[in-house]
Amino acid sequence: MRKIFLILVMGLFTTVIPAQNRVVLHPDSATIKISRHIYGHFAEHLGRVIYDGIYVGDNNAKIPNTGGVRNDVIEALKKLNIPNLRWPGGCFADTYHWKDAIGPKSERKAIENLSWGNYREDNSFGPHEFLNMCELLGAEPYLAVNMNSGTVREAVEWVQYVNHANGTSYLTDLREKYGREKPWRVTYWGIGNESWDCGGHMSVDYYVNLYKRFATAMTNYFNSENLFRIAVGPGFPDYNWTETVMRDVPARRIEGLSIHHYAVNWQHRSSSYEFNDDEYFMIMEKAWFMEEFIRKNSEVMNNYDPEKRVALIVDEWGGWYDPDPRGNGALYQQNTIRDAMIAGITLNIFNNHADRVRMANLAQTVNALQSVILTKDEKMILTPTYHVMEMYKVHQDAMLVPVRCTSEDFVHGNKKLQSVSVSASLDDSEKMHISLTNIDNDKPKKVEIDLNGFNAKNVSGRILTSGKVQDHNTFEYPGKVVPEKFDDAVLSGNILIVNMPQNSVIVLELSEL
Ligand code: AHR
Repeated sequence: MRKIFLILVMGLFTTVIPAQNRVVLHPDSATIKISRHIYGHFAEHLGRVIYDGIYVGDNNAKIPNTGGVRNDVIEALKKLNIPNLRWPGGCFADTYHWKDAIGPKSERKAIENLSWGNYREDNSFGPHEFLNMCELLGAEPYLAVNMNSGTVREAVEWVQYVNHANGTSYLTDLREKYGREKPWRVTYWGIGNESWDCGGHMSVDYYVNLYKRFATAMTNYFNSENLFRIAVGPGFPDYNWTETVMRDVPARRIEGLSIHHYAVNWQHRSSSYEFNDDEYFMIMEKAWFMEEFIRKNSEVMNNYDPEKRVALIVDEWGGWYDPDPRGNGALYQQNTIRDAMIAGITLNIFNNHADRVRMANLAQTVNALQSVILTKDEKMILTPTYHVMEMYKVHQDAMLVPVRCTSEDFVHGNKKLQSVSVSASLDDSEKMHISLTNIDNDKPKKVEIDLNGFNAKNVSGRILTSGKVQDHNTFEYPGKVVPEKFDDAVLSGNILIVNMPQNSVIVLELSEL
C-alpha cells in the first residue's frame, strides 16, 4: 500500500515539474513580418574580400567568372537568397571617392588603401562592377557614402550618377558613356560609417549636423525618390548617441539607424579555430550581448518614434578573432561550429526584434571575419555560418511567431548564459519554421515546445552540429560540417519534444496538412 502511495506521489511529482527547457509559441499573434533584409551581407575593400574572393578580373581564364565576378561565389550567395549587400566599407568607405573607380579600367585612379594595409587599390572593382554584380545576385545594393574625406557634393552626385533618369545631367551622360544606360535605382544609402571612430572621431552633435546636410542634399527636398537614408548609430553601449540622432534629426530626413556589434574580446582575441572553453564562453557572452544592445537602443528609439518608422539596422555583426595567416589577407579567419552558434543565436535575436530590426549585414561575405565563403585560388568552401544562413532563410519575409523561452543555463565556472535560443515564423503557405540553437558545448538539451494551437501534423528538420566546437571545413575536407536530416523532434498532440545535441543548430518545418 505504502509502495503504491509512493508511486502515485512520484507520478504526480513528475507531471507537475515544469520542463527545464520550455518554449511557448504564439501563432495567433503573428502580425509582424521578418524583413528578408535581416539576412544581408557586407563586403569591404579589405584583404581578400573583393579581390580574389569576389572579383578575379575580366581576363581570368582559370576561375570561371561573369564580368570578373566568380561564378562559384555568385551561385553560393544566390542559394542564400542574399537580399542585400553593403559596400564599399566599413572604414574604407570613409576614404573612398567613387569617381576614381568609373570609366575604362586603364584610366581609373589607383589609390592607397589607407584603412587596411596601405596597399595599392587599382579601383578595377568600382560602382559599375558592384551594382552589376548585385543584379546578378538579385540583391539590393546598400552603398556607404564617404562622410569623412568626402563632400556633400560627391554624395549628391553619386546618387544622381546611379539613380537619375538619362539626360538629366552630365553625370547620367557619363553613366551612359561608361556603358550603363538605365539607372540602377539604389534605395539604401549609409551616411558615414563608425563616425565616432575611423569615420572621423566625431562628437555626436557634430555628426548630426553633418548628417543633416548630407541627408537633405542627397535627394530632392521631399525625398520623392524614396531613398532609404541610414544614419550612424553606436558601436558600443553609448545610448546617448542614439538619443541625440533620434531627437535632433528631423523625422523626414532619416529612415534607418545603424549599430555595429562584434562578438570579440579586444583584450584577448583568440585563434579562430584553436580555442579553449574560456575563450568559447567569452565569445558566447559577447554574442548574447546583441540582445541587450538591440533592446536598449530600441527603448531609446521608441521614445522618439513609437510608430517604429525608423528601422534599426545592424550593418556589421559577427565573430572577430586573431587573423589566420594561412588565409593571406587582412582579417582572414577560419569559421567553426562556434561561429554557427553566434549566427544561430544572433539571427534568432534579430527575428525576435523584427518590429524594429529591419536590416542586418554579416561581416564579411568572403575571406574576412565571419565569412560565409572562403576561397583559395579556384577553390571555394562554404563555412558553418553559410549553412546556418541557408537553413534560416526560411524566415525571410515570413511572419514572426512570438516565442517565450526558458532554458537551462550554460554554466562555465561561476558564469552562466541562456543555453537555448529560439525563433519561429509562419510563411505564405502556412508552414511553421522553428530555429533553435543550443550553445552549451557540454550538455544536450531536451526542449519542450508548446505549439499553442498550431495543429501540426508533420514535422521535419535539419541539424548542423559536429563532435567538437572547433570543427570546421577546409579546402582539403570541405564537407566536415554540413547540415543533416534531423529526426529527433517528436509530436505529441500540441507539444513538440526536440532533443538537441550539444552545440547544435536545428531548423524544423511543421505543417498542418
Ligand atoms: O568589418 C571590419 C571593420 O570593422 C569595418 O571596416 C569597420 O566599420 C568596423 O570597425
